[in-house]
Amino acid sequence: MRIHVLTLFPELLASPLEYSILKRARDSGRLEVICHNIRDYASGKHQVTDEPPYGGGPGMVMKPEPIFAAVEALRASGDIAAATPIIALTAGGEPLTQQRVRALNQESELVLLCGRYEGMDERILDHLVDATISIGDYVLTGGEVAALVVIEAVARLIPGVLGDADSPLSESFSEPLLEYPHYTRPAEFRGWNVPDVLVSGNHGAIARWRREQSLRRTLARRPDLFAQHHLTAEDLDILGLGPPKRPRRGRRSAKE
Ligand code: ADE
Repeated sequence: MRIHVLTLFPELLASPLEYSILKRARDSGRLEVICHNIRDYASGKHQVTDEPPYGGGPGMVMKPEPIFAAVEALRASGDIAAATPIIALTAGGEPLTQQRVRALNQESELVLLCGRYEGMDERILDHLVDATISIGDYVLTGGEVAALVVIEAVARLIPGVLGDADSPLSESFSEPLLEYPHYTRPAEFRGWNVPDVLVSGNHGAIARWRREQSLRRTLARRPDLFAQHHLTAEDLDILGLGPPKRPRRGRRSAKE
């Protein structure tokens, strides 16, 4: 997968791409990240990329010309295909969810456009951008960190990028439940013990405990996600909400 990033601060993205999964994904050729400096496409001696907003107000607004010029130059040179989606990172964008990440992962090429300052001229969003992404309900100083979040979330779904090919399936948000808690050695740390069931060797009991933890944790921390989850009969049983169990009839004795 190839991801182009349009940014005023390409250096901001450099080091996170140099470590761990993102580095391995790039080294193996499964992921290519190419950063383009928007300023390189700004004309004039001062290569201005932002101006004060029409109508007044605080801050500066990213100008449309350099951003249109950047995308058009990349298309003209064949660096990006005409159909490659252009996605703007902005606090006012559509929320990033794991479902969205999975959809992005289906693309072979993406352009991530990082906003800065007060935002970008709306004509960029209206006439150049195909979609918007916000990584959460808070405001960052720019889209670069958000772009890195998107890159990492998408990259780890590329087949072969994670060591264990199955792991993306079992983790939070593959279904709308939070992950169960994990423990590793030592079994006792500062007097805090690993739950007995995890060292019991009883795989059925472990699976049930993990499911219960996922369900209870989601209910407590993310009732919005819990509401989306379709409770199975086993879930209801695990939560003690299942249909009342019929008392099992005891064997009748021969005398009765
Ligand atoms: N730029 C500023 N805030 C942002 C956010 N929450 N998500 C994506 N891009 C942003």
